[in-house]
Amino acid sequence: MKPENYPPTTIYDGETGYLLEWDKQSAVRVRPYKYNCQPTNKNDPKSGNWFFPSALSFLSHPLLAHLTPDQVQELLARNLVSFLEYTTLLEHRIVNRSVEHIVHNCLPVAVPHGMCMDALRIYTDEGYHAVMSADVAHQVSEIFGISQTTRQFSRISRLEALASGFQQQALGWFLIGFVSETAITKEFAKMGRSALVPAVHSMLMDHLSDEWKHSRCFVRMFSYLWPRLTRPEREFCATQLPVIIQECFRLDESLLERDLAALGLDSNVAQTISAERNNETANRLRAKNGASATLHALRECAFFSEPRYVANFAKHGLIDPAG
Ligand SMILES: [Fe+2]
Ligand SMILES: [Fe+2]
Repeated sequence: MKPENYPPTTIYDGETGYLLEWDKQSAVRVRPYKYNCQPTNKNDPKSGNWFFPSALSFLSHPLLAHLTPDQVQELLARNLVSFLEYTTLLEHRIVNRSVEHIVHNCLPVAVPHGMCMDALRIYTDEGYHAVMSADVAHQVSEIFGISQTTRQFSRISRLEALASGFQQQALGWFLIGFVSETAITKEFAKMGRSALVPAVHSMLMDHLSDEWKHSRCFVRMFSYLWPRLTRPEREFCATQLPVIIQECFRLDESLLERDLAALGLDSNVAQTISAERNNETANRLRAKNGASATLHALRECAFFSEPRYVANFAKHGLIDPAG
């Protein structure tokens, strides 16, 4: 699943950029649009899963042991719709907002032309991912009769609120993109181990193939910036990165409660399951594991050679105090 040479080396490839094969590799340029879910019979168990069961660890909870296979598939479908609606918003309101600061060379360090071009390529990819995600979310909603109201996703609202308070707007938004783009591959990597509905699988795989490259590209961008930042700018990064990482992995329990309620389950069931998985220890562990690629990239840049940065990340439970 992982491309060769992952994780990447820490040098940014100069003037021409890193995504040089974008025109021959990106989903928007070369992948056929094979995301039609209509032929899938939702009542046929052989059709595949509508989302990764492994991503819904709560499915094994004793309080849900009585769910029928059809109810499990509906729960998976509802999670898929939420995930895709969230993805659509994330691409536009978070990732591309971050990328704009690179495209237009607004960062505190002037970046090479190639990096601006890569940011433009990523911007285009993310716009296309939003198209794919919104389309499949709509199709699956129609198949399962899920009402598509305009949903709020607390993670997006929290990230926007965090960003609005940044003293260094462009650098802060870059950090949000860096964390978000290096974290997403971890979420998607679960997909390879589950038999999904073919159209859903195609769409997610095509998205993932782009995201591996984005992740590596963002790591290289960060590696380019880090040695060129001033001390106050580094201090800003060291302070904000753990906060951003934690926000990127905090669960939105309202989604689970809504989905379980839609299946007709008692609200106490959802609240019990939510309370068990949404404690501080679980949140910290989720962030530490989910951000492993981000943390690896920081280590590669010798980010943790400053003991105070180590202490701050350890305080947030993201690394061991020894670094
Ligand atoms: Fe994307
Ligand atoms: Fe991306």
